[in-house]
Amino acid sequence: MKSTLVTAPLAQIETPLLAIALAQGSTLPKSLGELDRAAGGGGVLARAVASGDFKGKRDESLLVYPGGGKAQRILLVGLGKGAEVTRSAIRRAAAVAAKRTRGLGGAGATQFAFAVASEARNQVAPRDLGQAIVEGAAQGAWVFTELKAAPEDPKPEVEAVAVVCDPPEATEAAAGQKVGDAVGAGHQLARYLQMQPGNVCTPSYLAQRAKQLAEAYGFGLTVLDRAALQREAMGALLAVAQGTAEEPRFIVLEYRGGGEAPPVALVGKGVTFDAGGISIKPAQNMEDMKFDMSGAAAVLGTFEALGRLKPKLNVTGLIPSTENLPSGTAVKPGDVVKSHLGKTIEIINTDAEGRLILCDALSYVRRFKPAAVLDAATLTGAVVVALGHAAIGVMGNDEALIGEVRDAGERAGERCWPLPLWDDYRELLKSDIADMKNSGGRGAGTIAGGWFLREFANGFPWVHLDIAGTAYTEGEVPHQAKGPTGIGVRLFSEFILKRAGA
Ligand code: BES
Ligand code: MN
Ligand code: ZN
Repeated sequence: MKSTLVTAPLAQIETPLLAIALAQGSTLPKSLGELDRAAGGGGVLARAVASGDFKGKRDESLLVYPGGGKAQRILLVGLGKGAEVTRSAIRRAAAVAAKRTRGLGGAGATQFAFAVASEARNQVAPRDLGQAIVEGAAQGAWVFTELKAAPEDPKPEVEAVAVVCDPPEATEAAAGQKVGDAVGAGHQLARYLQMQPGNVCTPSYLAQRAKQLAEAYGFGLTVLDRAALQREAMGALLAVAQGTAEEPRFIVLEYRGGGEAPPVALVGKGVTFDAGGISIKPAQNMEDMKFDMSGAAAVLGTFEALGRLKPKLNVTGLIPSTENLPSGTAVKPGDVVKSHLGKTIEIINTDAEGRLILCDALSYVRRFKPAAVLDAATLTGAVVVALGHAAIGVMGNDEALIGEVRDAGERAGERCWPLPLWDDYRELLKSDIADMKNSGGRGAGTIAGGWFLREFANGFPWVHLDIAGTAYTEGEVPHQAKGPTGIGVRLFSEFILKRAGA
């Protein structure tokens, strides 16, 4: 997605499609009067609003073909209630606009301009405006057609967005636009990786992509193969990996922008396909388990953004990656394995594999003496029961860090909701034979997963993000294509940029 900045009055903008974001209301805001006059037809925009055909609700949009003026199309986009407009509402409206633009087909528009009616700005700063519009455009425009020889209904891609702002805001908006370009690119990379099928996106493929990033941006890179994992005694990761012929990988990316300061570590679950192992999953929707590497995709997407933005901070990315398959060599329920940290684990359910690969990463990360560790993982189906698809489940061992992550999520439009890691829940993991078991039974499934990881997050502030409910959508939504959401990239990026003081 390319982006530009425009400071011309709305009526003077020459574009195939001019999107205008409005808050809920029954009259056209005054700032759009001149545009409406230029559009001809005796006030088409005012009528669209006054008639109630367009109410300005969130995700609503209305396409108008003006009889005059410089814009070939005008798209009204709803922001929801005026008092609740935030940068995340603007980002979402920009995504809706980009998706509508992409859907036009025919004499399709390959670019669009996006403006927020001044009355609806609700004090969102110019910098945030620039960033949110570009991020939203990247989100809404994204499509994946790579694996179709001939798409049934080929449509031109939306290649560029023009951020519309007032002349005095241009410098700040441009700074935000630059951040939006980088984060949007990271977000698109994450979704691309998520979308790849399991036979393409294997652990070695992820390592290859990490190598490309390292070469493009000068990151440090370490990749451990099965033999190296054995030398490292990553017994929990190896237990999952023993059921598949596909080689596992443990990937470490290091970005250095902060001298000798301790790094922020980002850990992403990289299960490139989760069949459940011997505790095999039902066939229904099992194909979605290619998305079980969404945490890994979030980490790689964030490094794409880091490479472009080069903030003053150190960041280490860790990706434990394997398939989880049943086979004659697979780990069995009842088996006991020894983790990298030395704690022993009774494997009750081989489908609780995410925590097994992550616990070795949380142990390995100690050597970097991290200032904070954030992990993102499609860890439990139970988080969908608790929070649906609207929020990431967040847990951790440090209240201040949880707060910092939630703030980043709010700015990113990737909301987090806390679940408690009270001592009471530790009981769930008690094993008769080992230090703990990997599954706690039916109740509090997401918390049991969090508690398991907490046993390995020793000596550093740590936050766990359960993204199983937010990593992909099962149907079409107004602001993005069906499938992978790239969740985590924007949250991680916000977190890092704030810490870097950028
Ligand atoms: N990858 C799954 C979790 C998942 C479920 C992700 C639905 C996306 C959508 C994870 O490895 C898993 O299988 N978790 C088990 C844990 C249980 C066995 C304790 C689950 O949620 O059922
Ligand atoms: Mn599983
Ligand atoms: Zn899994």
